[in-house]
Amino acid sequence: MSGSRTPMVAGNWKMFTTSGEGAVLIDHVQDVVSDVWDRVDVVVCPPFTGLKAASTIIELDHLRLGLGAQDVHWEEEGAYTGAIAPRMLVDLRCNYCIVGHSERREYFGETDETVNLKVHALHRHGITPIVCCGESLALYEAGKTEEFVRGQIRAGLAGLTAEQASALIVAYEPIWAIGTGHTPTPEKANDVARMIRATVGAMYGPPAAQAARVLYGGSVKPENASMFFGEPDIDGALVGGAALKADAFSDIVHAAS
Ligand code: 13P
Repeated sequence: MSGSRTPMVAGNWKMFTTSGEGAVLIDHVQDVVSDVWDRVDVVVCPPFTGLKAASTIIELDHLRLGLGAQDVHWEEEGAYTGAIAPRMLVDLRCNYCIVGHSERREYFGETDETVNLKVHALHRHGITPIVCCGESLALYEAGKTEEFVRGQIRAGLAGLTAEQASALIVAYEPIWAIGTGHTPTPEKANDVARMIRATVGAMYGPPAAQAARVLYGGSVKPENASMFFGEPDIDGALVGGAALKADAFSDIVHAAS
């Protein structure tokens, strides 16, 4: 991690937790991470149905916890059954939204083009996108990781202002590391994070590259978090499974502090 960027640990709860279960989890999380609010940006991303309860707890208890959705549609409104518009997230006081997660790409037809539309739609509404990228096992084994991820970044993040680029949060999540217990070495993950930062720099200039935060995601656990956080271009983590257990999540947040 670099001292010039505030570390971030975000929990992607995926399709787990009812709103009641989510409320209990947030209560536990805030109990165990409140001592590091000042040093780490901590974000929870419940399913859509849990956002209202989460938002209410965060507001009533004055928690310094960021709230994120896991997806959004890019249109303002319209006949898009099942979809959620950016201003609906604003209404629930979401500050963040995950975009382009590999599970959305694999199961729901997300592409770099739709990622880009969503990134712009979120910026129009003052919500910070957490943009996911990452390669498959086949690409990793073929040595094509950097080429592939660079393409995702160029297409997904096209057309931003330098100011928007400076606020970027990119999560590098190798698909083969998600939920598998396998991870790249911290050095390899850092190589990709450095390349992502360089690509942002080539697109938007060195100040944006210096300010943008790059998270690592994929089987982050209390046992390995500090190794990733020891790398200079990794500014935190996007956590799946371990974010559903307050104590494990807290250990990861503390490793980032
Ligand atoms: P795991 O931490 O469960 O591997 O999931 C990572 C992830 O997909 C976060 O978005």
